Amino acid sequence: MLVNLSSMLRDAHLKKHAIGSFNVYNFETIKGVLESADELKKPVIVAFGEKYLGNMDLNTVYAVVNSLAKNISTPVALHLDHCKSFEHIIQAIRAGFTSVMFDGSSFSFGENLRKTAQIVSIAHAVGVTVEAELGALSRGDYSNEDEGKQIYTDPDQAEEFVKKTEVDALAVSIGTVHGMYKGEPKIDIGVLKAISSKIDIPLVLHGGSGTPEATIKECIYNGICKINVNTEISMYTVNKIKEALKSDTNYHLSKVSLMEVKYVKEVVKKYMNMFYGA
Ligand code: 13P
Repeated sequence: MLVNLSSMLRDAHLKKHAIGSFNVYNFETIKGVLESADELKKPVIVAFGEKYLGNMDLNTVYAVVNSLAKNISTPVALHLDHCKSFEHIIQAIRAGFTSVMFDGSSFSFGENLRKTAQIVSIAHAVGVTVEAELGALSRGDYSNEDEGKQIYTDPDQAEEFVKKTEVDALAVSIGTVHGMYKGEPKIDIGVLKAISSKIDIPLVLHGGSGTPEATIKECIYNGICKINVNTEISMYTVNKIKEALKSDTNYHLSKVSLMEVKYVKEVVKKYMNMFYGA
């Protein structure tokens, strides 16, 4: 069943857990994410980033996710992750995505607000939820994201932004990075608490990979309801397949495909359990 983020995140917000938003790039990653959700009986967000349009087009992503989601009993949201292009947002909505992220974090506050509000009014007219971002994350190791400068989210700006855009979820910058941490993570829970005290919509934590469990729990306790994981899915799976290929060089590609699903599931299930405090 495909749903938007509304009820999923509202429920997570109330029950103090977070929904995993896992990045996919091909059939195997989609299958791995959906099988994990089905086996753990938990809702899930399948996230496809604008960056991966060279791997799959939006209609194909929708067709595969919609077809596989029909066979599982838990709610699934199909979310466009980190999208800077207005055209791609509209194309994703037309393709059947139930949720979109407009990433206006590189614009000025006013420009981000204006563009986000415009997208919210279009998306809401057809029942699609919108995530926006305020502040910016830097890049750690093994990430596929562009280099970025860490800018912590300003709680007062967040309050004004949410009020004026009517966005459904807000990605905040509190010290996580896109990719694996180069040293000790420096997460500022104080900033998160200040944001949470001013706004009442679900907050999103980008840069989930490698974030310590205790930090994840503290973030969830203080208002984070959606956590994004990308780098670790790719890094772990590639390393495992590399190891397997070293010991047996005669692997058939069909077996490599099955291995990919298996290792994606190991990472996704680890994080799903962590986000639910299992
Ligand atoms: P990581 O690559 O650090 O897991 O971050 C993922 C992310 O935030 C995708 O939007």
